[in-house]
Amino acid sequence: MIKFIAITLAATFGLAVAVSAADTKPVATLPPPSTNTNVTYATDIKPIFDANCLKCHTGDKKPKANLALDSLAGVLKGSKDGKVVIPGDSAKSVLVLAVAHVGNPDGFMPKGKDAKPLTADQVGLIRAWIDQGAK
Ligand code: HEC
Repeated sequence: MIKFIAITLAATFGLAVAVSAADTKPVATLPPPSTNTNVTYATDIKPIFDANCLKCHTGDKKPKANLALDSLAGVLKGSKDGKVVIPGDSAKSVLVLAVAHVGNPDGFMPKGKDAKPLTADQVGLIRAWIDQGAK
């Protein structure tokens, strides 16, 4: 509610763009997919998840959101809310929006007080992997 009032007030004073830009980013701001070919979960993606996500998303430890990222099968199965990866369409994949910090800030990943956002290169590699079929 307070946020709504703030945005409304800001709009009145012509600051709406600045306020909403700080809040959410449009899909157009996703880092581009990497141009690497033959990107696979095992060689390229698992190391990123191992370092940044497994604290909370490991299959044998009751993963957060019921999403296990420590196996390809777990990633493809998705979370309690459904698929997080759409093979062939990285820009629509919930997992990509989460790590690129696009959309709802509550879903931004990784979480936690010492969480470090993924780099644009890492997000681009994840995008290439999904666009190439999430193998
Ligand atoms: C400190 C714990 C923690 C870490 C680290 C973490 N997550 Fe999460 N993740 C959560 C929690 C808790 C949720 C449940 C929903 C929420 O709070 O948004 C979640 C939800 C998600 C979802 C959304 C599931 C859905 O369908 O809504 C995705 C995708 C996700 N995480 C991916 C990742 C990725 C990728 C990483 C690493 C780059 C990561 N998470 C790191 C705690 C974590």
